Amino acid sequence: MTAERAGILADNEAESDARELGRRFPPDFLWGAATSAYQIEGAVHEDGRGVSIWDRFVRLPGAVAKGQTGEVACDHYHRLDRDLDLMSAIGLRSYRFSVAWPRIMPNGRGAVNQPGVDFYRRLVEGLLERGIVPMATLYHWDLPEALQEAGGWAARDTASRFADYAAVVAEALGDRVSLWVTHNEPWVSAFLGHGYGVHAPGTRDWATAFTAAHHLLVSHGLATQAVRAAASSAARVGIVLDQYAIDAVSDRAEDGEAARRMDAWRNRWFLDPVVKGTYPADLVPELEAVIGSSTWVRDGDLELAAVPTDFLGVNYYTRIRIEAGGHEDFLRIREAGPVLPVTAKGWEVFPEGLERTLLRLRDEYGERPLYVTENGAAYEDAGGPDEPLSDVQRVAYLREHVEAVADARAAGVDVRGYFYWSLMDNFEWADGYAMRFGLVQVDFDTQERSPRASARWYRELMSERGATPAPADRGLAP
Ligand code: FCB
Repeated sequence: MTAERAGILADNEAESDARELGRRFPPDFLWGAATSAYQIEGAVHEDGRGVSIWDRFVRLPGAVAKGQTGEVACDHYHRLDRDLDLMSAIGLRSYRFSVAWPRIMPNGRGAVNQPGVDFYRRLVEGLLERGIVPMATLYHWDLPEALQEAGGWAARDTASRFADYAAVVAEALGDRVSLWVTHNEPWVSAFLGHGYGVHAPGTRDWATAFTAAHHLLVSHGLATQAVRAAASSAARVGIVLDQYAIDAVSDRAEDGEAARRMDAWRNRWFLDPVVKGTYPADLVPELEAVIGSSTWVRDGDLELAAVPTDFLGVNYYTRIRIEAGGHEDFLRIREAGPVLPVTAKGWEVFPEGLERTLLRLRDEYGERPLYVTENGAAYEDAGGPDEPLSDVQRVAYLREHVEAVADARAAGVDVRGYFYWSLMDNFEWADGYAMRFGLVQVDFDTQERSPRASARWYRELMSERGATPAPADRGLAP
């Protein structure tokens, strides 16, 4: 434990600052951290797990930095109990994880793989034993490969298969899990996966991408109904959408128009259907002029997309600056690049964008419970051998964004929880292991976990919550 302690020595000032900020939140505020299955579990060949589109995609030359894969990742599948103790030591009140569809249904349909179900059952029981509230995400991008071979999200049938899978998981865990997320960032699944082709399945075709986007929406509606039917009546179901602060680079009308188009696509393409049951009317004609009419939309689909949900999850990381020009596609925009300090990902640190996003959701989309389901930053560990884990920048990022949430709440927005991304360093998709987002550092050679200063700071913040007793101190004490 000495090495772990080295970087998290008490800094009284930072701690009292954290506690003071914590007092701006109610006792039942859901403080948590988030992960996803493929990014942490490893054990991809074990206990009957099927192949996912990410298992295949990572093998494509050039798909992932350094040819890295999630085959081992954080080896979380084998280290479940220790990772649960780690969450407890940090004092998490909630944990957002995702269920790997190919562990539950190796072929995406049909027979259920009991060892896969048992793993998530153990995870959920372990959380509850430690007083940590589970939030389960059903889809964080790992479609069973067998379904991809049948057309993947571009095939309408995949939406029904997703509902079947959702029913199985809700049946298995629904007596213990009350917070359910259907999709994580369907924008990324649809457009990075099928348009830009930089995520699995690696398709580059815009008509396919918009078709996939539509079927993801339909599947959200069907899965919401399936979870409600199978889980306990206490189940609360929502979807997680990635949202950006989008600013025009100037007050020229054409830049403002470009920023509006970007907002319609990047923020509203899923938000409008889910909340209002319509696609953004200001972008549909421009889109159809470029890729043809939306033949994939059938009667009743948008009613399904807008099925009433209990909350909306918001993933917020950064701002995008937009100017007119660039591509000849339907957006006709250019990303102008950052002007403020950036994280290791090159993302501008722009906490006011989180407050703005939360206010906008309330003002333009109506009152509803919101959770910040992801927010976080990748930074290199700096500080030299004496202080390898004193991640000053991450603490600052965390504090400023939590402050933004407090300000939005003070303005009356119903934000009920905040989940830092991520609990620990993990497989960051096409970036491989280079981007370290963790409250906890992971040494991928030894699998040693070492909490960073941000973990300690976060624990102090959460210790003000009062509602549940402080968890047993397992290794984070100075
Ligand atoms: C989000 C993803 C998550 C992680 C963070 C950095 O878009 O949901 O898996 O990659 O970005």
